[in-house]
Amino acid sequence: MIQLGIEVSELNFSWASGVSAIKSCSLEVPKGEFWMLLGTNGSGKSTLLRLLAGLLNPQSGKIRVSEPVGFVFQNPDHQLVMPTVGADVAFGLVSEKLSHAVVRSRVEEALTAVNLLSLIRRPIYALSGGQKQRVAIAGALARNCDVLLLDEPTALLDPDSQIELVAGVQKLVKNRGITALWVTHRLDELNYCDGAFLLEKGSLIDQGEAQRLKQRLMELHQETEIPQ
Ligand SMILES: Nc1ncnc2c1ncn2[C@@H]1O[C@H](COP(=O)(O)OP(=O)(O)OP(=O)(O)O)[C@@H](O)[C@H]1O
Ligand SMILES: [Mg+2]
Repeated sequence: MIQLGIEVSELNFSWASGVSAIKSCSLEVPKGEFWMLLGTNGSGKSTLLRLLAGLLNPQSGKIRVSEPVGFVFQNPDHQLVMPTVGADVAFGLVSEKLSHAVVRSRVEEALTAVNLLSLIRRPIYALSGGQKQRVAIAGALARNCDVLLLDEPTALLDPDSQIELVAGVQKLVKNRGITALWVTHRLDELNYCDGAFLLEKGSLIDQGEAQRLKQRLMELHQETEIPQ
């Protein structure tokens, strides 16, 4: 039997306003695999990620996620708390009671994966949006997590940095055997994942091999293009 890093079955979640954001959602991510979560604006991607992280409670359904869980928010300003890049990435390691040398090597490895090692002493206020997003990802990578959940981690990046980042994170996640779920709108990132899920209006409408889903999404985009 394959081991699972993330397991969700028959999950339902509605906001207090009555909006039903996740409907009968069931999915599995095998341990150590890197999967992506796709869907149009408002389809429920961020809500599903928050449910997986335990930040929201579902009305019904079952969630099993290997712990500890690392989370990268859609907006990096929500999670950078220390004055400099290096201190912020090290902050999440405090509870692990590691030696100074181990903290240093974990911070350097994580900053290398996001191509930001040269800015280790830079104050957070002096970073661009895309650089802040990469610090937030390094913070999650530095922690010894089993599962990593990332909500549009490349939204603020230019195309070259975006591909560099997805390749860097994929390499580190694979080396460490971390199970990852990565939310994105960018189809070229699908070349780096083991598989993908497609959400539409809170329902999981497709899942599986990334290249097949990429093809399906390109066809959907073509169909919805307005003729000139
Ligand atoms: N705090 C909230 N209170 C009430 N409704 C919310 C809240 N956050 C999101 N929603 C609603 O839940 C649904 C799913 O939103 P969600 O943020 O999960 O979508 P998303 O797929 O992440 O979209 P995007 O691509 O724009 O980030 C939407 O209808 C949204 O309006
Ligand atoms: Mg979102």
